[in-house]
Amino acid sequence: MHIKESSLTIFEVQKMVGILFGLIFLVGMMNIREVEGRKSRVIDNFEYSAINCRSHSASITDFGGVGDGSTSNTKAFITAVDHLRQFESDGGALLFVPAGKWLTGSFNVTSHFTLYLHKDAVLLASQDMNEWPLIDPLPSYGRGRDAPGGRYASLIFGTNVTDVIITGENGTIDGQGEMWWQKFHHKQLKHTRPYLIELMYSDSIQISHLTLINSPSWNVHPTYSSNILIQGITISAPVNSPNTDGINPDSCTNTRIEDCYIVSGDDCVAVKSGWDEYGISYGMPTQQLVIRRLTCISPTSAVIALGSEMSGGIQDVRAEDILAINSESGVRIKTGVGRGGFVKDIYVKGFTMHTMKWAFWMTGNYGSHPDDKYDPKAIPTIQNINYRDMVADDVKMAARLEGISGDPFTEICISNVTISLAAKPKKVQWACTDVAGISSDVTPKPCDSLADQGPDHKIQCQFPEDRLPIDDVELQTCSYKRRYL
Ligand SMILES: *[C@@H]1O[C@H](CO)[C@@H](O)[C@H](O)[C@H]1NC(C)=O
Ligand SMILES: *[C@@H]1O[C@H](CO)[C@@H](O)[C@H](O)[C@H]1NC(C)=O
Ligand SMILES: *[C@@H]1O[C@H](CO)[C@@H](O)[C@H](O)[C@H]1NC(C)=O
Ligand SMILES: *[C@@H]1O[C@H](CO)[C@@H](O)[C@H](O)[C@H]1NC(C)=O
Repeated sequence: MHIKESSLTIFEVQKMVGILFGLIFLVGMMNIREVEGRKSRVIDNFEYSAINCRSHSASITDFGGVGDGSTSNTKAFITAVDHLRQFESDGGALLFVPAGKWLTGSFNVTSHFTLYLHKDAVLLASQDMNEWPLIDPLPSYGRGRDAPGGRYASLIFGTNVTDVIITGENGTIDGQGEMWWQKFHHKQLKHTRPYLIELMYSDSIQISHLTLINSPSWNVHPTYSSNILIQGITISAPVNSPNTDGINPDSCTNTRIEDCYIVSGDDCVAVKSGWDEYGISYGMPTQQLVIRRLTCISPTSAVIALGSEMSGGIQDVRAEDILAINSESGVRIKTGVGRGGFVKDIYVKGFTMHTMKWAFWMTGNYGSHPDDKYDPKAIPTIQNINYRDMVADDVKMAARLEGISGDPFTEICISNVTISLAAKPKKVQWACTDVAGISSDVTPKPCDSLADQGPDHKIQCQFPEDRLPIDDVELQTCSYKRRYL
């Protein structure tokens, strides 16, 4: 059934492209016709789960793609997406990437589009700087994160698109980040490093069942977007690689991150919403975020960071069933004077931690400003932060909670938490300044500013009972078939 639609695709391309492509596709079409006449062999035939199935499909090899690890496929990807764009309002299209090593620079996706990686497909990020177009800084950041001015477009980039799926049978996207990390360390970057996947101003996004390795910087960055499903992603980067955050929802609404396994040089999940005066004036929060069944190894950073760029606000984050191994901190709030914005209605439960520097960390003096124009009166509101049902072992210090003088972090609730200490723990287990809240059934005993409710007044910190709209998104079973000679 899909093969017929593929030949249609091939038919229509002749209208659009020049003689060369016409010829390539004519050959392809004759092959398919011959195959259909005789007995054909089905090589690729698989099912996958997706928010939407597609009526049309093509393979990167139809567009001159070569999976030898050294031929550049940037043009093939750009041509393929340009071609498949015509099906946006005709059932959408899937671009299949077969087994092989597909070297490519940055390319853009389109709407009603699926990029599907075979399990043995590797997208290898190009090391040629000319294959990375420059794009404007994010309006909510005012500048690039590494350098003022523009930034390199992400390997897979999309803006103002809807219904985009990037998935596969755990196929790999290899950012080959070493070159970028060296440039970063040697201060040779004139522009901000690219991410592996970035979607801006977009709606209905699925990123699932992929292996992302060695990103030049952040791995997955949905921004100014909504209705985002991120599932079954394995992310790995050296634990000393700079800024290789796992998943960074940034000014996004209604996002679900689940069943991900992340080892990285920075925060496993970093929730963001813009930077100082730029983020404040853009004013777009990250809200309605679910994170569940996350495994994280991040020796120098947090399992879940809220901030530091949080100037548009962060609200209604629900995290549960999280496993942390050898990480610096569990949940960390990072903010400072000048950020403005808010972090409120945060609910975390079911957290298991092994080998940590701090189980809980709140930082009110994070610093790091885009420029000196930030407003020293822009103080953030940190409120209604709930942590419960947690166990941790081999912990150096239970909590380091530092609010802002004159701007305390309030309504903090911690309940049913048992922290076992490392062989050489810190003398003071709870260091609290400018924070206020309550605690119940927590060991070791919290600081006085989180007054213990006592054995007769045990409480359970809140966790919402209702469901978020993203919890109700259902996946369909889609199928793909492709025959070869
Ligand atoms: C992708 O889209 C952006 C924004 O429209 C554009 O600046 C960039 O050049 C495009 N990339 C490619 C490879 O065409
Ligand atoms: C993309 O969407 C944003 C926000 O709605 C809008 O400001 C911008 O002009 C759009 N860009 C394009 C290329 O349509
Ligand atoms: C993909 O990886 C996940 C997690 O490691 C695993 O459970 C799943 O079986 C893998 N799927 C395929 C198709 O290899
Ligand atoms: C306390 O937390 C543990 C997990 O750490 C959980 O199994 C247990 O049910 C919780 N107890 C209550 C009373 O909620």
